[in-house]
Amino acid sequence: MTQFRIPVPVAGTRIMGLGSYQPENVVSNHDLAARMDTSDEWIRERVGIVNRRVADKDELLVDMAVTAGSKAIADAGLTPSDIGAVIVATCTMPTPIPNAAAQVADRIGVKEAPAFDLNAACAGFCYALGVASDMVRAGTAKHVLVIGAEKLSDWVDPDDRSTAIIFADAAGAAVVGPSDEAHIGPVAWGSRGDLVEAITIKDRVSFVHQEGQSVFRWATTQIAPVALRAVELAGIEPSEVDVFVPHQANLRIVEAVAKRLHAKGARQDMVIARDIVESGNTSSASIPMALDHMRAAGEISSGDVVLLVGFGAGLSYAGQVVRCP
Ligand code: UT7
Repeated sequence: MTQFRIPVPVAGTRIMGLGSYQPENVVSNHDLAARMDTSDEWIRERVGIVNRRVADKDELLVDMAVTAGSKAIADAGLTPSDIGAVIVATCTMPTPIPNAAAQVADRIGVKEAPAFDLNAACAGFCYALGVASDMVRAGTAKHVLVIGAEKLSDWVDPDDRSTAIIFADAAGAAVVGPSDEAHIGPVAWGSRGDLVEAITIKDRVSFVHQEGQSVFRWATTQIAPVALRAVELAGIEPSEVDVFVPHQANLRIVEAVAKRLHAKGARQDMVIARDIVESGNTSSASIPMALDHMRAAGEISSGDVVLLVGFGAGLSYAGQVVRCP
């Protein structure tokens, strides 16, 4: 029987470049305390955020994604014509159709590229990175642009102190390409649809609703095992992880998950992302943006072994080990 031709698979994949974008407008805890019943002290203690960025009305999710994506392509030493596919991880696109990715691809100059959105909420970037890595490894596309972009301010009730203090706007991006060695490990991923009620936007006129405490409990108990599974799938030991970049949901969750990793052998000097302090919770943008910020600040270096783990609405979760570009 005639065999169909398939692309030649490549040995491994790597992140080649990073980029991120945040709106100009900084909203401090004091700004929030001036308009609702909260305080700088409460937010710092319970969530760890000091400032967050919120986009203006006329600054769109697609605009933020275009800027972050363009920076990642330049950082990778590539041009838009080198990009074979664009994935935008997002859960806050204002329109179900059109999606973000096709517009982003066109505006970046990746003409007629396959482009699609992926919604796994705050786990979206790690989901998309896993898909992109498999696409490159299978030979489906040589370079894939992966962007996490969120305009949460479109979906947050500005008067709801349980969500308005947390969520913020941003975009983060990475270019995935081929490599002689595997520099992106297998993805450890899954979902808990039985817990769907924990974070919802019920319909097109509703705001985001979160059962904060139950999500907090789930994240602090169930996410460290996902991260450790990613380490195991990559064939390394927890002690080999140089940098830990979990989704920036709440600083107390970041510290609690890191503590569990330390108990399983992660080094005490493992660098831990705390980008939430100045950026807030930006859902699918938080992980690539934290990586980009940490590298720019010299906190992490090219070649570092970085453990990523995202988690959030769905409930959904995903993690993998990567090397810092
Ligand atoms: O990114 C997607 C995944 N999401 C997450 O991982 C979020 C997980 N959850 C959380 O991060 C936390 O649960 C929150 C930050 C959302 C809330 O923190 P908490 O420590 O769980 O607070 P709580 O909801 O248990 O509220 C404690 C108290 C309540 O008062 P009473 O009933 O004890 O008198 C709240 O009414 O704090 C009150 N409260 C506030 N007080 C001042 C709630 N929000 C505020 C606020 N300022 N902004």
